Formats: sequence, C-alpha cells, structure tokens
Amino acid sequence: MDATVRKTIEDLNEAAARHDAAQHDRLDRWRVLEPDAGRFLWFLAQSITARIVVEIGTSRGASTLWLADAARAVGGHVLSLDIDAEAQAQARRTVAEAGLEDHVEFRVADGGAALASMPDGAVDLLFLDAERPEYPSWWPHPYRVLRQGGVLVADNALSHPEEIAPLRDLLRQESRLTVTTINVGKGELVALRR
Ligand SMILES: C[S@@+](CC[C@H](N)C(=O)[O-])C[C@H]1O[C@@H](n2cnc3c(N)ncnc32)[C@H](O)[C@@H]1O
Repeated sequence: MDATVRKTIEDLNEAAARHDAAQHDRLDRWRVLEPDAGRFLWFLAQSITARIVVEIGTSRGASTLWLADAARAVGGHVLSLDIDAEAQAQARRTVAEAGLEDHVEFRVADGGAALASMPDGAVDLLFLDAERPEYPSWWPHPYRVLRQGGVLVADNALSHPEEIAPLRDLLRQESRLTVTTINVGKGELVALRR
C-alpha cells in the first residue's frame, strides 16, 4: 500500500470518528470499517487473487479504499453499491484522492437487487456491509454469485451476532461452503466456496 492510500484511510477514519461521535441516530453515523478489519479484507482479497470484488454498503468509502488497493495489486476491480447517493459521492471523491478511481465502479443501487441480476459464479469476493436484517431476503444470490474459491465476508458478526445469525445459518446449510468468524474489527463472518 502506498503512502497516499494509507494517509487517505487514516484521514477518513479520523473524520469518521469525529462525525460519528456527534450523532445520536445510528443511521446518521458513517460506521466505517475498523482498520484491522480493513487490513484483513485487504490481505484476504490479495490472497485469493480477487479480481472481481463486490461490496454492498459504500458509505464514505473506508472499506472501498482497502478493497480497491488490494484490487489494484492483483489487477482487479471493485463494484461498490449503496442506496445513499450523497454518501457514495463523498466516497468517490475520497477514492480519487487516493488515486484508486480506476479500480472502482460506484453504483447507486440496492444490494439485493444488484446481486439478483449478476450471473452465477461471477464474484471472487463479496463484502456485505449494509443493513444486516436484509441479508436473508437476498438469498440465494450472495451464495449463487460466488465463484469456486470465492469468499463472502459480512461485517458485524461479533458486534451484532443476533442480526448476523440468520445469514450464518443460511451459509451453513450450503455443503460447499466453509464458514467461520474472524475476530477482527467488529467481527467478520467469512464463507469460502470450495
Ligand atoms: C455500515 S455503512 C457501510 C460502511 C462502509 N462499508 C465503510 O467501511 O465505510 C452501511 C451502508 O449501507 C448502505 N445500505 C443500506 N441498505 C442498503 C442496501 N439495501 N443496498 C445497498 N446499500 C445499502 C447505507 O446507505 C450505508 O451507507
């Protein structure tokens, strides 16, 4: 990771901490990915040579920066989806500041609808960081779109275990998936399609 990307991530994390501290409503917070979870995603994406990365929940782009930097390292590309156009516009500017704009396509779209329109096995790494209770209604697309050797990651597995449990149960019912939880950040639910 070069110094520009590192500094952009640090600045965004500091701005997010200041912003979120002043918000009473959870939905008004930026809720950016924790840095150690970002580093985990970055490492994982490169480990599996994730060239087609889909993230649902751009917000201001913290996870996008980690994923885009990993995608650049392996010649890949990130599709980042959010229903909040204003938040995503800010993420777009931040990603450009980091020099990663050629590695990200931003799209204002509902994550579930977007997944439903994707072909089978098209995605190397799927990162879910939107409204957790919605994930089960997107089934089977989060699983269907994963290529063999592809990985699904969902944030907040340890901070909101009761909200993540329905997704984990669905993942565990698939015999081709190996499912575990990694204790970084707010907890990352990880499923590998064998
Ligand atoms: C926790 S924040 C994402 C944080 C971001 N990944 C980061 O690291 O900075 C959740 C985001 O999911 C978006 N979102 C909620 N429901 C969605 C949906 N159905 N499809 C796409 N995005 C959604 C929200 O607008 C919000 O920006």
